[in-house]
Amino acid sequence: MEDIKKYQKAEKTKKTREELQAIPWYYDGLEKLCDRIHPKKQYLKISDIKEVSPDTKLFRFVSAKSNQPLASFRAGQYIGFIVEINGVRTSRPYSLVSSPNQVAYYELGIRKKEGGFVSPYLINNAKIGDIFEATDPMGNLYYNSIFHGKDLVFIAGGCGITPFISMLRDVSERLLPLKINLIFGCLTEKDIIFRDLLEELQSRRPNIQINYVLSEPESDWKGECGFITKEIIQKFIGSIKQKYFYIVGNRPMYQFIDQELAAMGIPRHRILYEAFGVPDDITKVMGWSSDIDPSKKVKVTLKYRQLNTEKTIEFEAYCAEPLLNSIERQKLTNLEINNGCRSGECALCRTKMDNGKVFIPPNVTIREIDSDYGFIHPCISYPLTDLHIDLTSI
Ligand code: FES
Repeated sequence: MEDIKKYQKAEKTKKTREELQAIPWYYDGLEKLCDRIHPKKQYLKISDIKEVSPDTKLFRFVSAKSNQPLASFRAGQYIGFIVEINGVRTSRPYSLVSSPNQVAYYELGIRKKEGGFVSPYLINNAKIGDIFEATDPMGNLYYNSIFHGKDLVFIAGGCGITPFISMLRDVSERLLPLKINLIFGCLTEKDIIFRDLLEELQSRRPNIQINYVLSEPESDWKGECGFITKEIIQKFIGSIKQKYFYIVGNRPMYQFIDQELAAMGIPRHRILYEAFGVPDDITKVMGWSSDIDPSKKVKVTLKYRQLNTEKTIEFEAYCAEPLLNSIERQKLTNLEINNGCRSGECALCRTKMDNGKVFIPPNVTIREIDSDYGFIHPCISYPLTDLHIDLTSI
């Protein structure tokens, strides 16, 4: 009994002490700083639109909320840009083109993807004053002074130039002592977006070298032609010693460049890839069986929670379409699967699959523990059989 009384007294003293203890002076400030660096959502208003090529526009955004400045970012990162099209709420990752040394505005260079859902909508419909939601900046494609050294090779294909524009601006503005060799592959000369800016940077900074390679040039093109082969890379960069490679482009380009760099003897740990989005045609991806009819549909049973009530719906999904797209098309109110990269990298969309089989492209990595316990990344998973998905825990 005596012990219980002593314990109760000690508990009371502890509680009183806790109540009297002042909240540390820095607590509020740090919380605010963390929210500012990593806001869950940002609201962006279009303040300017410029055409940079027949199918690409440069959008400038300012914060739509006067009390919420834009989040800072590292050159090379992207934001998840959220849109609602005909009631379907979805998002796409777009690299920031603007310099990270100011956050008065963001710039995104968006190219219209034929047959796409979001980019044609933005190119055709978005206008000055429109407001969109976006995630905070994310992604691993940025310069790391400890691991990357001072001699960098940037290889860009088409719209993959966008993160490099931000990185080059950063290098130029902060006079970083880095040597940079950019190899930019495009179809034709008119597809070289941001050319004026690239050439201006090159003329101002002798440590920045820019080379173009055109795969379908006009007859008067005097530069390099074809794909970015190991011979072309070697010609532009000379020795591979101490060099660090960043690759941004579409997935077929990765496969090609991967082989070329391997043939040059570049170790994998000296290459950084930015995997953006899903393959244009999943049926062409290695590992996709030719027996699978891409127009085939499977039944998806989806369990989710709405206002504390568990619900189940069933719908049909195409085998050749990422599962996340099919789920978004159901327009389920109050149900949003978090997502960012839509390419299997960020793991934000991690979802429990109770049973069924999905196809995941071979270069997408998923944590062993996740696959052991049935978690998938629906952004890059293609349903091959009927599936049971459980979203009750998100
Ligand atoms: S959205 Fe990044 S892994 Fe799915």
